[in-house]
Amino acid sequence: MSQDTLSITDNRTGKTYELEVTDGTIRAMDLRQIKVDESDFGLMTYDPAFTNTASCRSSVTYIDGDKGILHHRGYPIEQLAEKASFLEVAYLLFNGELPNRTQLADFTQEVTMHTFVHENVRTFINGFRYDAHPMGMLVGTVAALSTFYPEAMDIHDKENRRLQMVRLLAKMPTIAAWSFRHSQGKPFVYPDNDLSYTENFLAMMKRVGDNKYVADPDIVRALDVLFILHADHEQNCSTNTMRAVGSSHADPYSAVAAATAALYGPLHGGANSAVLKMLRQIGSVDHVPAFMKSVKEGTGGRLMGFGHRVYKNYDPRAKVIKKLADRVFDIIGTKNPLLKVALELEKIALDDEYFVQRKLYPNVDFYSGLIYEVLDIPVDMFTVLFAIPRTAGWLAQWEEMLLDKDQKIARPRQIYTGQSARDVPPRDER
Ligand code: CMC
Repeated sequence: MSQDTLSITDNRTGKTYELEVTDGTIRAMDLRQIKVDESDFGLMTYDPAFTNTASCRSSVTYIDGDKGILHHRGYPIEQLAEKASFLEVAYLLFNGELPNRTQLADFTQEVTMHTFVHENVRTFINGFRYDAHPMGMLVGTVAALSTFYPEAMDIHDKENRRLQMVRLLAKMPTIAAWSFRHSQGKPFVYPDNDLSYTENFLAMMKRVGDNKYVADPDIVRALDVLFILHADHEQNCSTNTMRAVGSSHADPYSAVAAATAALYGPLHGGANSAVLKMLRQIGSVDHVPAFMKSVKEGTGGRLMGFGHRVYKNYDPRAKVIKKLADRVFDIIGTKNPLLKVALELEKIALDDEYFVQRKLYPNVDFYSGLIYEVLDIPVDMFTVLFAIPRTAGWLAQWEEMLLDKDQKIARPRQIYTGQSARDVPPRDER
């Protein structure tokens, strides 16, 4: 018997089956042959939330959750954060290799040339209520972009696909900044194509009137590093959404809008703003023990920014962000007073049996909000700042899915738990 197989004996029938094991997995469809009799549908797996199901083969991102390791296309996240720019990382995610100087210059030029949006986009962003959440505006506006580029439906044409990928990457900061400006009641600032990707985003957020806002280069770099840290994270909730929606061959704008909606939730990208709200609510270090007690007793909600489906160790991105926070606080010349509360929460959690036993460590969202806050970015924008760079990962994973011969329209099975067949009674007999 070959070593890379799994023998299963079905005790209902006494039959034994041999299934192939490849890359530490068995194919769920191989279970279907296991039947009690010919009329039986065949064995399925039950895996709500996909906690133990590989939904794809991917060469984009590697995570070892136990060791706290994150690589993109083989490169450790720590090195990318130190030595690359966000656009280099986006290129890497799209193409599998880091760009050389010419490739980077061409890619940067391409992205820069697509930062403008159709004037009508302005009109409908203006149509949102004055207090609309920027994530809601982002989801709606990105979905609407599909109506401006109907050719995007031709997802099988590589050149066309690549054009839409560049467009999306380029336009996300513009739409994000405009959503922010709308919520502030400030006029929209057009992209400035003399600026870098990150600088341009900051300028569109911060410029007032003719005032040429010039961002501190260290702050630009800090935000660029934050973008790198958020660029991709393999099969998370929003990426899974991107792949699932994309698997129906919807256009990439609709799929990115859906992925953005998935990111919005507080258990995913919405955690960064939830952390800051939590820190504000705790208020000071002396309130930390009581808060931690309430989390453990289940009355105070979750410790936001802690825990991860995959990491059972310190999230490597959180380590980089923690250092980055210190650098940003030095540049700005002020520390976020909530940092003390965050440090105390972390100290207690890392030592507390409840958190240790469940392997709950700080994740990427725990410290990022503290940086955004000293950069004067309002809390409601935090998740938008996650969505901009994650667009690179969504698109890389989307294209990989489209080119994967194993993939089909995503369509899980269910275990039906409802009524068996019955007749509809007349209305006066119900
Ligand atoms: N605070 C307190 N308890 C927690 C937390 C937390 N943050 N996270 C998990 N637990 C407990 C949970 O109650 C459960 O305990 P028990 O076994 O007694 O029922 C146990 O730990 C396992 O939790 P789970 O919900 O089964 O774990 P999961 O893998 O389904 O959830 C998670 C992962 C990230 C949704 C969760 O840890 C969480 O809600 N964290 C807070 C929100 C957050 O920070 N999200 C950002 C994630 S990283 C960036 C991103 O994905 O966008």
